[in-house]
Amino acid sequence: MKTDPFAIKQYPKWHPIRLAFTAKARLIEREARENFHKYALPEKNISTLPPTPNADWSNTAVTPSQMQHLLYALSMTEHLTDTVIVEVGCFRGITTQYLARATSRKLIAVDPFIGYGGSEEDYQHFKNNIAGLSNVVHERKTSGEAARTWQYGPVSLIFIDALHDYANTAFDIEAWSALTIKGAVLAMHDTDRVEFAGTRKAVFEAYKRTGLDLLAHPDNLTLLCKLNNDVS
Ligand SMILES: C[S@@+](CC[C@H](N)C(=O)[O-])C[C@H]1O[C@@H](n2cnc3c(N)ncnc32)[C@H](O)[C@@H]1O
Repeated sequence: MKTDPFAIKQYPKWHPIRLAFTAKARLIEREARENFHKYALPEKNISTLPPTPNADWSNTAVTPSQMQHLLYALSMTEHLTDTVIVEVGCFRGITTQYLARATSRKLIAVDPFIGYGGSEEDYQHFKNNIAGLSNVVHERKTSGEAARTWQYGPVSLIFIDALHDYANTAFDIEAWSALTIKGAVLAMHDTDRVEFAGTRKAVFEAYKRTGLDLLAHPDNLTLLCKLNNDVS
């Protein structure tokens, strides 16, 4: 089981466990940057996509094409009734809003809004953007806390878009994969930028290790599909 990077923060900065974790994480990031091209997955665009929603693109880093691919992934899981959708890292709630609008299933939005890319101001935007969407449940927790205290049943679509380094992405993939069912889609954002080389490495390793299929891979978003139950 991978270590939850946020659990490590319980130790003071000088603690040997935290120092060792940070040093290892830095080495991995360096290796991921050096081998950025080695960890590339083939591009794969879907030709028949749902229409682009009329979203406020200034409040999200997700592009119209990526949003269409997310909505496509959501539609692929609609037959999995009694499952939920999870977004890890919601920021201002633009993707949250459009994914929730496209389904009657529950969308569990996981974001602690404690810094790390999500401020109190972002939280106010988030609340405005999900207002009136009765199928959105906000878990104001970190990814690890939310996964450990999970009570919403099987997950059929997980959109991982929190911290874009190896330690966090690899942890998120492992923690949330354990809660998915056969046919689920794992979508990871920011997989093709050298500044987030660790995220690309984590996704590449998950793909190689688990035998997940590459469902789609438009620029900077990778979607893997779980065809069996033995992901670990
Ligand atoms: C890149 S933004 C998410 C963007 C959003 N998915 C969208 O498409 O507009 C990253 C978010 O991750 C959140 N975050 C940071 N660390 C997190 C963690 N450990 N668990 C869950 N969310 C986290 C931040 O609060 C921030 O709002």
